[in-house]
Amino acid sequence: MSAGRVVATRAELRAALGDTAPGLVPTMGALHDGHLALIARAATENLLVVVSVFVNPTQFSDPDDFARYPRDPARDVAAAFAAGAGIVFTPEASAIYPPGAATRVEVAGPALRWEGAVRPGHFIGVATVVTILLDLVRPARSYFGEKDYQQLQVIRRLHADLALPGEIIGCPTVRDADGLALSSRNARLSPEARRAARAIPDALQAMVERAGEGETEVSALIATGEAVLRREPALAIDHLVVVDGISLEPLTTLTPGARALIAVELDGVRLIDNRELRNPRL
Ligand code: PAJ
Repeated sequence: MSAGRVVATRAELRAALGDTAPGLVPTMGALHDGHLALIARAATENLLVVVSVFVNPTQFSDPDDFARYPRDPARDVAAAFAAGAGIVFTPEASAIYPPGAATRVEVAGPALRWEGAVRPGHFIGVATVVTILLDLVRPARSYFGEKDYQQLQVIRRLHADLALPGEIIGCPTVRDADGLALSSRNARLSPEARRAARAIPDALQAMVERAGEGETEVSALIATGEAVLRREPALAIDHLVVVDGISLEPLTTLTPGARALIAVELDGVRLIDNRELRNPRL
């Protein structure tokens, strides 16, 4: 494990950074191989990598979800250093939101639909914390996963609109052997639900293949995905849509960069995933 520093306050973080513009990987901890891939990539592209571990209260619409979020800071710090972090920033809420904090950052456009519609205030919390982190760290590059595709597009919009520092880098989704996208929420699934969850990547794969064969009608692509999801009765579809890859607006025919987004409820756990749909002739 490489030696690194753990800092908890804004002042400690700024002092540790000096004039360095590092790579930044914002996380809420419970680090798994998906997060570690972001950190490892950041370590190949930056001399210094900052990983933030902060379970951001303002992005949870359900207080129980916030309370139940897994927390194991000692394990996260060790894993972040082992993956290549030089500084781990583990703030208390008061270091991110000073007493009396009254400022929120609200993105419209790509934040309005899908996760934004189902989880009121969620993207306001994400946009606010990401703005604070990018302003504090002033990174050369910040790394986010395509796993949370809408979040990535909301952050790209935010970054462009507020001229936040550095570059936003989207990284591919890391998956389990059966295709399920890694997520801290997967640990909450019963063995039976975990098995059923495989239908999510299978549905996306079926849509990717159908698009690859030349299907451009979104209704036909959605029918293909739904047929796979319906094989698992325990799985309730929240949405299965095909959207423009930047605006997140729904499409009727495939365009370059189109994305299939899935959100389901399984065993009381909400799972999301997505893939790009490419038509070879577009
Ligand atoms: P968190 O869910 O901890 O995720 C941190 C980063 O890891 C995000 O950019 C997310 O997209 C990425 N990630 C999660 N699972 C992944 C996987 N299987 N493959 C690749 N990347 C994956 O997303 C958040 O935290 C928060 O909203 C945050 C941006 C930190 C703001 O609080």
